[in-house]
Amino acid sequence: MKEFKRYLVTSALPYANGPVHIGHLAGVYIPSDIYVRYLRGRGADVKWVCGSDEHGVPITIKARKEGVSPQDVVDKYNKIIKDSFEELGISFDIYSRTSSATHAETASDFFRLLYDKGEFIEQETEQFYDEEAGQFLADRYITGTCPHCGNERAYGDQCESCGTTLNATDLIAPKSAISGSVPVLRKTKHWFLPLDKHESFLREWILDGHKEWKPNVYGQCKSWLDLGLQPRAVSRDLNWGIPVPVEGAEGKVLYVWFDAPIGYISATKDLTPDWEKYWKDSDTKMVHFIGKDNIVFHCIVFPAMLRAHGGYILPENVPANEFLNLEGDKISTSRNWAVWLHEYLADMPGKQDVLRYVLCANAPETKDNDFTWRDFQARNNNELVAILGNFVNRALVLTGKYFDGKVPARGPVTDFDNEILSQVAASKKALEDYIEGYRFRDALKEMMNIARLGNKYLADTEPWKVYKEDPARVATVLNIALQITASLSIAMEPFIPFSAAKLAVMLGTEPLSWELLGSSDILPEGHVLGKPELLFEKIEDSVIEAQLAKLEAAKEANAAAGFEPQPQKEPVSYDDFQKMDIRIARVVEAEKVPKTKKLLKLTIDTGIDKRVIVSGIAEHYTPEQMIGKQILVLVNLIPRELKGITSQGMILMVEDHNGALVAVTPERDVRQGTTVG
Ligand code: MF3
Ligand code: ZN
Repeated sequence: MKEFKRYLVTSALPYANGPVHIGHLAGVYIPSDIYVRYLRGRGADVKWVCGSDEHGVPITIKARKEGVSPQDVVDKYNKIIKDSFEELGISFDIYSRTSSATHAETASDFFRLLYDKGEFIEQETEQFYDEEAGQFLADRYITGTCPHCGNERAYGDQCESCGTTLNATDLIAPKSAISGSVPVLRKTKHWFLPLDKHESFLREWILDGHKEWKPNVYGQCKSWLDLGLQPRAVSRDLNWGIPVPVEGAEGKVLYVWFDAPIGYISATKDLTPDWEKYWKDSDTKMVHFIGKDNIVFHCIVFPAMLRAHGGYILPENVPANEFLNLEGDKISTSRNWAVWLHEYLADMPGKQDVLRYVLCANAPETKDNDFTWRDFQARNNNELVAILGNFVNRALVLTGKYFDGKVPARGPVTDFDNEILSQVAASKKALEDYIEGYRFRDALKEMMNIARLGNKYLADTEPWKVYKEDPARVATVLNIALQITASLSIAMEPFIPFSAAKLAVMLGTEPLSWELLGSSDILPEGHVLGKPELLFEKIEDSVIEAQLAKLEAAKEANAAAGFEPQPQKEPVSYDDFQKMDIRIARVVEAEKVPKTKKLLKLTIDTGIDKRVIVSGIAEHYTPEQMIGKQILVLVNLIPRELKGITSQGMILMVEDHNGALVAVTPERDVRQGTTVG
């Protein structure tokens, strides 16, 4: 395998139009922080760059909604994001921004060079234009009816109801979200990066050259490549972004996905005058940490851009993660279904490492994964407290008690001692392989395994029982337990750095270098330890319940706010209405229809007869709940056959915001058979 002299690590630039949540952390920032902390621990030459992605249409939409400028929006979120990352111990070498002057120049020069080399094609397209607002409309600024599902609030780029990706021109009855007017198509010129020109290179580079990439990444690349690459527009008609540096391009900016990855380069420039070494020397290993929605940009588009430019290295690996869900539901910014980092930090002071630990343990490395507050509590209480904290505490407290807080002398060692020590030593290589293979969950387990070994060692040697008879043996045991603790502090650092630092203080050491991990002679005899303290504390039910209540409140608020009544239907005459025989009836019998989940067979008294109606409400009402109830029934609906039963009419029900069915009943009892009208 190729040896590299230095590393350049990048993490996806978060959009500065909202705070970051646990999904971002588990997918990108925690894994990359672990990777970089590990490399630093090994003394590697590594630069880690990130920053906020401050262009693009959603930022302009947010600004318009809030009545502020796009710059105000990005200033606000850049700060929230940067501060919260820092507080979580995400240790970027630089957190930059794509609205910086360095970036504007870098991205602009990059574009210009490609333009001058003839790497773009120019094409006229037809784009929706808002004549009232006097501007072209980004796809997101156009709403209309989805041609696939009929949703009347589909966006020009996507229908959120059926999930289909759309072109604005696909929409039925398109409308401008800015002025509400009907947009017209107008010709506009744009620049395209002909990805097709780079296809054979990309095929070879990825499909033959990087078979070691994660299967989810490799697979996505392969399907893009197999579909055949098309030219991609790299400019937009928009007034927020980096102006296209070409004559006759007034009112046009670089497409956000063109400028954002160049942000990695700008950030490196802002970080070090030596930036070229990290971007242009083939001895540099570049690794992009991203979420799965960014794969095509980092594996296909950006490499094509870099190659078209020339002189740049390409990424060695792009360890993209899948998505994290929250309590079984997709995380959603617009529905406020998320655990926001800045809120977590405020709600749970001093618990950065717990979140880091839990998110690494549940990182969606190979498939989507789920975060739940109960799991968070269990991992804290049963793993961090009961295993790791417990071992460290016993080793330190016993040394305090028997040896005055000094590392005792190691006498003759037993086979068992050696066995444990060699297992701890072996964990170094395992950790290295896992971390370098981007398997952070396995690495975390390996780190915990050191604590497990330590616990096992103390449980088997029982120093608290042996001390009276054989203090010399206990000296050896605690010496070994302390060496294991020191190794543990090294292994912890990438994952739970706050606790690792605390532990180093308790051990009376400076942070120890990675190379010492697994050594049985880290702490010399007589070395004075610091004061033992608890590394983790139990999390009570009430804390978890408060978080769950917060999510529940978000759900409720969302249901209230998100309710969009159906638009009014076509007019009907009074006569039309009179045709419907809706009347009050009473349920006299009810039973489940066998072998179905949803159906109840109801016998109702309509005042004119007793009849049977089959109704799909079994998941919402039990037969007992229905018996005796007065309900509204459309009695002259043409009978239908359902599961071999003739259903004569329809019970009126409404669906609430959670999808539950609610029976419509008269406000007080009235006689069966009374008609509604
Ligand atoms: N802002 C993008 C997102 O959150 C990621 C940009 S990564 C970069 O999906 F490479 F373009 F910078
Ligand atoms: Zn649709």
